[in-house]
Amino acid sequence: MPQIKPLLIIFLFVATQCPNSSSQNLHVYTYITEPNSQLDPDPEFLGTISNVTYPAGREAILACSVRNLGKNKVGWLRASDQTVLALQGRVVTHNARISVIHEDAHTWKLKISKLRESDRGCYMCQINTSPMKKQIGCIDVQVPPDIINEESSADLAVQEGEDATLTCKATGNPMPRVIWRREDGDMILIRKPGSRELMKVDHYSGSSLRLVRLERRQMGAYLCIASNDVPPAVSKRVSLSVQFAPMVRAPSQLLGTPLGSDVQLECHVEASPSPVSYWLKGARTPSGYASISNSNLESGQPGPEMLLDGPKYGITEKRDGYRGVMLLVVRSFSPSDVGTYHCVSTNSLGRAEGTLRLYEIKLHPGIASINDDHLNFISGIEEAARGGVPATSLATILKLHLTFYIAQLLFSTSVTAPAVSRRA
Ligand SMILES: *[C@@H]1O[C@H](CO)[C@@H](O)[C@H](O)[C@H]1NC(C)=O
Repeated sequence: MPQIKPLLIIFLFVATQCPNSSSQNLHVYTYITEPNSQLDPDPEFLGTISNVTYPAGREAILACSVRNLGKNKVGWLRASDQTVLALQGRVVTHNARISVIHEDAHTWKLKISKLRESDRGCYMCQINTSPMKKQIGCIDVQVPPDIINEESSADLAVQEGEDATLTCKATGNPMPRVIWRREDGDMILIRKPGSRELMKVDHYSGSSLRLVRLERRQMGAYLCIASNDVPPAVSKRVSLSVQFAPMVRAPSQLLGTPLGSDVQLECHVEASPSPVSYWLKGARTPSGYASISNSNLESGQPGPEMLLDGPKYGITEKRDGYRGVMLLVVRSFSPSDVGTYHCVSTNSLGRAEGTLRLYEIKLHPGIASINDDHLNFISGIEEAARGGVPATSLATILKLHLTFYIAQLLFSTSVTAPAVSRRA
């Protein structure tokens, strides 16, 4: 083999990329090396380049160690596009974040500060031997999680019984985990496919939370939380409104109260969106108290009266989510307050009402006037019956008392306040 040793080996490194400049700069580097000889051992790498992982914003260092470099040179290139970044100790790219550290005779370190995602990739340490020798080290840039608002759910309102899907699109490196929680700390209710029951879970893992056949209990604010190894974790709040027509329930529909006292009427309301609620007092009709119905209104009966908060009526409403309590206090109960009351609740999806009746309880039969005595006497017995006296003994007492009463009527022309009814 003819030993034609070229005197010059010309290496041409062409850097065609310069991120900080709009015009493309061309750097041509030519340098001369001595030919290899038997006495001059070939350069070789000491070990391999370690791959590194750093969070964005920090700095990354790749170390390339070479033995027997001799007159050869060491260069750093970006592997993806072969851009030359540095030659020996000199940075040749217009990137202020890149530098080369040449601390000892063997090692050339490529340092990239203020790491960006675009720095992720592999870098080549090259020795200009013939053939060229190279080693590769890679940099992974960690990026904290982020939630892409445009691709994630906004607050939504869904009718009860329909389905809803809450989605949260997260980015980051490594790929973030996404979980869903309720903002109020309650369990999330999920209907498993093919199941009728709602299952309770502390949190749901996955970027899409599908809620099938929504129930009102599933209403609330949900948080999607995205996290990876890089702090901080991020979250997004999605408010889910489950809408339905009002439902009204009166726990006690019949309320007895003595004259002069205050009495409280109560209705429980469930509605979403928030209802408008008010109290009506049924119109008085010859046959008693009208309930609110079209037939009453059409028949020309006086309409029901809307009650307003004031000295006579105390009207309050407490709400907690879709649940509410309507309270009406009728002050200083009088005979004209006897009748039917309606708690009415309406929202965009419908209307509901509860009906309550107020009646008078006569506490002290003996106090009534003489002319009313017989009536009060009987009602006094009724109140006693409410008090829990056994029915048989009541009948006996009633019979005895009536006998005594009739005897009084027979033997006396003027009936004075009977002692009997006083004692009853
Ligand atoms: C560094 O990462 C690259 C690409 O993932 C791989 O080919 C190479 O073997 C890794 N080097 C080391 C020293 O682990």
